[in-house]
Parts: sequence; structure tokens; C-alpha cells
Amino acid sequence: MRAVPRAKIFLVGTLCLTLSLGTLATLAVAAGDDAEPKHTVKEVMKVAHKDGLLKKILNGDGSAEDKQMLLDLYVSLIENKPKKGSMESWQTLAGGAALAAAKVVVGREDGIAQLKKASNCKACHDVHK
Ligand code: HEC
Repeated sequence: MRAVPRAKIFLVGTLCLTLSLGTLATLAVAAGDDAEPKHTVKEVMKVAHKDGLLKKILNGDGSAEDKQMLLDLYVSLIENKPKKGSMESWQTLAGGAALAAAKVVVGREDGIAQLKKASNCKACHDVHK
């Protein structure tokens, strides 16, 4: 049997992850199709990012309610349409943030680390703000 190169395995893994995030976001958008987003993007930015909810959770000081609130806010991001940038990119970024927040809610070991990456302000603002 021929050994599969490592890089190939990594590529396929990354592709699967990207696809599943995209599907998650598309499903969420489809489910909330004609519903108004629960929170606007500005509200999410204020409560999650300006008022310190994300920081509290990243520092390990977030309560179960805090974590659920962040998830609710990030799901609202997916329900919104960005005023700048492509829908595809938005679904990947907002979907990634929501998935990471969900991992934190259910207590996955890599949740906080993933949330830190997925909430990168500049990565999203450069494309969508
Ligand atoms: C998934 C994408 C995304 C991520 C991640 C993100 N932002 Fe934003 N942010 C936006 C978008 C889109 C806007 C523009 C909203 C508008 O004007 O309607 C925005 C606007 C803002 C605003 C201005 C809000 C206002 O009232 O005009 C602040 C402050 C802000 N973000 C802070 C942050 C901080 C701090 C982080 C990182 C901890 C962050 N954001 C991460 C997408 C994101």
C-alpha cells in the first residue's frame, strides 16, 4: 500500500472542516430565512466585544450564562447579512465564531483556543466592516 503524504491528509481535513462550517452556516441561514436576526451586528459587537463578554470568557471567568449569551450573539451574526464582503466569507467567519462558542458552551477542551482564533477582530473587519 502506498503511504498517503501528510500534506494531503491535512488538506483533506481542512477541506472537510471548511465544508462543514459552510454547511452549518448555510443551514442556519436557511432556517432563519425570513426571520429577522435576533441581534444586529452592531449589538453583537457592543455586547460581546466592547462590553467585555468575550474577554471574560477567554480569560476563563465566564459563567454558563455568559457562554450561552455569546453563542446566542454569534448565531445572530450568521442570521445577519454583511453590508460588505461576500456571503460565503461571512458564513465561514460568523459560522466559525458560532461553532467555537458552541464548543465552549459544551465544555470542549479546545473550545477556548478555538474561540480565540475565530473571534479575530481584524480578520473579519478587514473583509466585512
Ligand atoms: C465575524 C466577523 C467579526 C468579528 C470576528 C468581529 N467583528 Fe466587529 N464588526 C463586524 C462587522 C461586520 C462590523 C460592522 C457593523 C455595522 O456597521 O453594521 C463590526 C463593527 C464593530 C464595531 C463598531 C460597532 C458600531 O456600533 O459601529 C466594534 C466596536 C467592533 N466591531 C469590535 C470588535 C472587536 C473588539 C472584535 C474582536 C474581539 C470584533 N469586533 C470582531 C464583524 C466582526
